[in-house]
Amino acid sequence: MTAVPTIELNNGVTIPQLGFGVFLVPPGETEAAVATALATGYRHIDTAKLYENEDEVGTAIAKSGVPRDEVFVTTKVWNSDQGYDATLAAFDKSLERLGFDYVDLYLIHWPLPKVDRYVETWRALEKISGDGRARAIGVSNFQIAHLQRLIDETGTVPAVNQVELHPHLTQAPLREFHARHGIVTEAWSPLAQGAVLDDPVITEIASAHNRTAGQIVLRWHVELGNVVFPKSLTPSRIEENIDIFDFELSGEEMDRIDALDRGERTGPDPDAFG
Ligand SMILES: NC(=O)c1ccc[n+]([C@@H]2O[C@H](COP(=O)([O-])OP(=O)(O)OC[C@H]3O[C@@H](n4cnc5c(N)ncnc54)[C@H](OP(=O)(O)O)[C@@H]3O)[C@@H](O)[C@H]2O)c1
Repeated sequence: MTAVPTIELNNGVTIPQLGFGVFLVPPGETEAAVATALATGYRHIDTAKLYENEDEVGTAIAKSGVPRDEVFVTTKVWNSDQGYDATLAAFDKSLERLGFDYVDLYLIHWPLPKVDRYVETWRALEKISGDGRARAIGVSNFQIAHLQRLIDETGTVPAVNQVELHPHLTQAPLREFHARHGIVTEAWSPLAQGAVLDDPVITEIASAHNRTAGQIVLRWHVELGNVVFPKSLTPSRIEENIDIFDFELSGEEMDRIDALDRGERTGPDPDAFG
């Protein structure tokens, strides 16, 4: 299997371009799933306070024998903890559950524009980063206007924006904004939770490369420059999802997948949520 490439964030920290997501992994099953992912070669885990499995992620890493500094771990501040002091306290609790003294990446999970606390929440992330307790800080589900306001009011550019992104929601204008500002695009639900995998365009390209539909979609992400962390509890899929670095899609194949965009979300609209 070819090694997973890394991408340099805007502060020089590097992130493996492919990781393992643990949203909706039921309590009691996360430790084993993360152990399988680590044994398969994954070195990047995406969790969140919301997922209620930070403790199992930390335990799996501690028991794996893989040194802590060889695994890139992201977690996120949940909506109910937004605000400067509440975020600092929530971060302490996340670290405690993980059993770590730092995380690699800490994110604001949703902008909640109607609550309007994301700027003060970001100030708390700046403090955490300044104290060396998060190697990088970023946001999730931010639209262009939210990113622009953070940059204008704080002068700090988020290292990443983690957003819903897959062939049915290609997010071209947002990716273009990220590229202009040096923000890395992270794609959540990269497979649209499976909804894009039986599209005839994807299955035809998969046959041509003798690969699975999942591998074609993940390869499309990687060639766009996205960071991805597909979730799977199926060991064979955990293996195939990381085995995508020894083939390439043609320009025409990339264009055909780009053309599947329908602006269709599986999750909430970030402008309305909260
Ligand atoms: N920031 C946010 O707001 C946010 C929101 C949602 C997700 N996320 C992050 O993104 C990660 C991934 O997103 P997701 O879990 O929503 O969806 P996803 O990774 O797009 O899809 C996961 C689903 O696809 C199936 N699957 C995985 N690999 C497959 C393959 N090769 N072939 C066929 N089916 C496959 C899995 O089934 P099995 O498990 O049965 O194999 C599971 O049902 C999450 O775990 C989380 O870390 C972040």
